[in-house]
Amino acid sequence: MSSGRHFLQIPGPSNVPDRVLRAISYPTIDHRGPEFAELGLDVLDKLKSVMRTESEAVIYPASGTGAWEAALVNTLSPGDRVLMFETGQFGTLWAGVARDLGLEVDFVPGDWRSGVDPAVVEERLSADTEHRIKAVAAVHNETSTGVTSRIPEIRAAMDRTGHPALLFVDTISSLGSVDYRHDEWGVDVTIGGSQKGLMLPPGLSFHGISAKALQAAESAGLPRSYWNWGPMLASGAGGYFPYTPATNLLFGLREAVAMLHEEGLERVFARHRRFAAATRAAVADWGLEVQCRVEEEYSPVLTAVAMPDGHDADKLRTAILDHFDVSLGAGLGKLSGRVFRIGHLGHLNEPGLLGTLGAIEAGMRLVGIPYRPGGATAAAEHLADTAA
Ligand SMILES: Cc1ncc(COP(=O)(O)O)c(C=O)c1O
Repeated sequence: MSSGRHFLQIPGPSNVPDRVLRAISYPTIDHRGPEFAELGLDVLDKLKSVMRTESEAVIYPASGTGAWEAALVNTLSPGDRVLMFETGQFGTLWAGVARDLGLEVDFVPGDWRSGVDPAVVEERLSADTEHRIKAVAAVHNETSTGVTSRIPEIRAAMDRTGHPALLFVDTISSLGSVDYRHDEWGVDVTIGGSQKGLMLPPGLSFHGISAKALQAAESAGLPRSYWNWGPMLASGAGGYFPYTPATNLLFGLREAVAMLHEEGLERVFARHRRFAAATRAAVADWGLEVQCRVEEEYSPVLTAVAMPDGHDADKLRTAILDHFDVSLGAGLGKLSGRVFRIGHLGHLNEPGLLGTLGAIEAGMRLVGIPYRPGGATAAAEHLADTAA
């Protein structure tokens, strides 16, 4: 048992602000009563304001994986082809969900160090003259690598081909942390989750749904029941759910989005970019490498740090947790043991970030990782030089 507060610096679930925790602790209300309708309509509106859409939205009492499945079953039919990308562990898992559902996945291989290449999207869609590809599915922020794909460029590449495929975007680890525009970027299904930039506990996931996706849903042939947009949108129009909602998480959602708007979305995004830059300054000063190799794709949400050869990231993370009470993200899939991930998202301030980076530096000294001391100071200098 250590004194002080545990530092949860994984790239989600992120720290839940006290205001949100208090909101969640309100007494549960009747989800079929009049008070609920007001809450339901309010949270749908608030969610749309963060997705930046005037179109439809639904809220699932499920983790993000459920909303991945929901996007596919609402719009596609057995045997449909989906263009997906090996950006990292989450791109890979989503492709697995699609295959499990009986979809044909065109899986573009990747190096786990870069995002979706818009040129490849253009090339694959141009080659698909019979329009067999029904959807392009991209992870906006690949949480396993710290790489943020360029969605507007992907949209522009799709538009250049004139191909009618739908565009699905997983914003589970970007929504509320990274600039995102469902309507303006022509996204058909935006998939979000509660436990990252929205500063809530795990348990909710979201869709923003375009008119084109709604139209696709009318003829989609995959079986769907729990995930079916039809009853959700019908109940949602009155602020209700077709089944029992996660009422208390919705209290939290109302409060969390209010906090984002009080700070201002643009300022929230700028804060994330600034903390990410300070973190990269620390990594560079330590003489280590970040996993993302494309500068314009550096994630504002997290930084994955590659270990020097012969050193185990998990040993370092364990030492930092045991001695300094800081949780860092593990390397996932192919990157297991090879990277550790620093979450700098959500409810975080400068001392929280500096404390995390200081603990990492102390941990590297403790376990004998070769590094140059001073990274935490480099981050402090960046924060001082960019202080508003
Ligand atoms: C980008 C991304 N997509 C999908 C998921 C899966 O979501 P969940 O674990 O909430 O089911 C995660 C989880 O971290 C994620 O980061």
